[in-house]
Amino acid sequence: MTDKYTQMVSRGLGKDVARRLGLPQPVVLRRYEPGAPLITGPVLVSGDSAGADDVATALLGWGLDVRRNALPREKLGAIVLVLDALQHPGDLGKPVLTAGGSMRDLAANARVITISRTPLSASSPSIAAARQGVDGMLRSLAKELRSGATANGILLAEELATTSPSALGALRFFLSGRSAYVDGQFLTVASASGSMPAETEKPLAGKVAVVTGAARGIGAAIARTLHRDGAKIVAVDIPAAGDHLASVANEVRGTALQLDISNDDAGHRIIEHAVERHGRLDIVVHNAGITRDRLLANMDEARWNSVIAVNIAAQLRINEALLRSEHFRDSPRIVSVASTSGIAGNRGQTNYGASKGGVIGMVRSTAALMQPFHGTINAVAPGFIETEMTARMPLAIREAARRLNSLKQGGLPQDVAEAIAFLASDAAGGISGEVLRVCGQQLVGA
Ligand SMILES: NC(=O)c1ccc[n+]([C@@H]2O[C@H](COP(=O)([O-])OP(=O)(O)OC[C@H]3O[C@@H](n4cnc5c(N)ncnc54)[C@H](O)[C@@H]3O)[C@@H](O)[C@H]2O)c1
Repeated sequence: MTDKYTQMVSRGLGKDVARRLGLPQPVVLRRYEPGAPLITGPVLVSGDSAGADDVATALLGWGLDVRRNALPREKLGAIVLVLDALQHPGDLGKPVLTAGGSMRDLAANARVITISRTPLSASSPSIAAARQGVDGMLRSLAKELRSGATANGILLAEELATTSPSALGALRFFLSGRSAYVDGQFLTVASASGSMPAETEKPLAGKVAVVTGAARGIGAAIARTLHRDGAKIVAVDIPAAGDHLASVANEVRGTALQLDISNDDAGHRIIEHAVERHGRLDIVVHNAGITRDRLLANMDEARWNSVIAVNIAAQLRINEALLRSEHFRDSPRIVSVASTSGIAGNRGQTNYGASKGGVIGMVRSTAALMQPFHGTINAVAPGFIETEMTARMPLAIREAARRLNSLKQGGLPQDVAEAIAFLASDAAGGISGEVLRVCGQQLVGA
């Protein structure tokens, strides 16, 4: 549930008072509901390349109200800025400024999405400069948007069409309410693998998904969201959380597996349970994690070791078992939960930061090992998420952490779950080794 302050200042007198006093003005974000439209309001597809025409045609195919030129004072649901043919930073001005002319016409909770190419493979410094310029431009623009609107980007590998399956998959994710708390981020589409789901509302139909740490918090939300999207769920948690685990497993009509993921045989137990009870294993979500915070000066071995053991060593060992298994060969998916603490760092969390940085390193390196059987591995890095853990933070620290992002509010467990559900789907088959932050564009740190 959105925090009370956000509810209070989203409408009526509270909104007026917050505006007059110059207080933060978060709005209730548009989140995905099955059956709700992908986006409300017309979508302006800006850019004059053939790739832009193809995107406009694809969006028309989804039944959206598409414009190639803005109409005066028309409220827009989204702007898709296609910049796939940049040769020089000088090429940025015209399309970006043209789109800029429509920024005041964005509706609440609108989307701005760029489609450009990855600078890493650019064949000249000027092309690399132009492509990297999109990065700086978009992250800055995201900080200018208001009223729940977000800006995110899709980076295509060389030669990849703007309408390749995962480019469209990512475009749909960013347009929808599934990406409500993703802001100022990029997703790279590295290959033409993947496919759009036959049933839009059940993209995980027929898949069997394991979720660790599923008894509560973000893990329970992941289990519910993957189930909503059609997957059969194996909910994993420690025996001490058995009652909560059983209730989540029952709710999603899945099965419960009581298991400490740091046990040596955890990988084997997970595969055995999934195959014996459900006949297959397609998706593993490494969500279970712990914190044992202390300044490094006060850190003891037990705190350090337990965090490393659960948050990264267990994932590495389970992945080794998955990569060896003949039951994990059919375009499998691994999604790990990292944290912005593993990217920007957080005081008192050297152990946690090391473990979550470790998750990111592991994901990048494992991507190549998943490729031979069309598998992918990615991470999501949540920022401040409203959970039991963050509810226990001292009020002043909690309020600061909650507001210091472009959307001026904490995310919900569902927001992390939606990003994971997308990365676990066939539509994300061309995306691997990526780290997607779900942090409302946190303003502190990297
Ligand atoms: N809450 C946030 O703001 C936030 C931010 C960034 C990252 N994260 C990450 O998201 C994940 C979930 O966080 P949460 O806030 O829901 O935490 P939580 O403490 O509410 O839930 C974690 C779950 O993992 C289980 N677990 C712990 N150790 C286990 C083990 N050895 N084997 C099996 N299960 C185990 C716990 O029993 C619990 O049910 C964690 O990886 C956490 O680091 C959370």
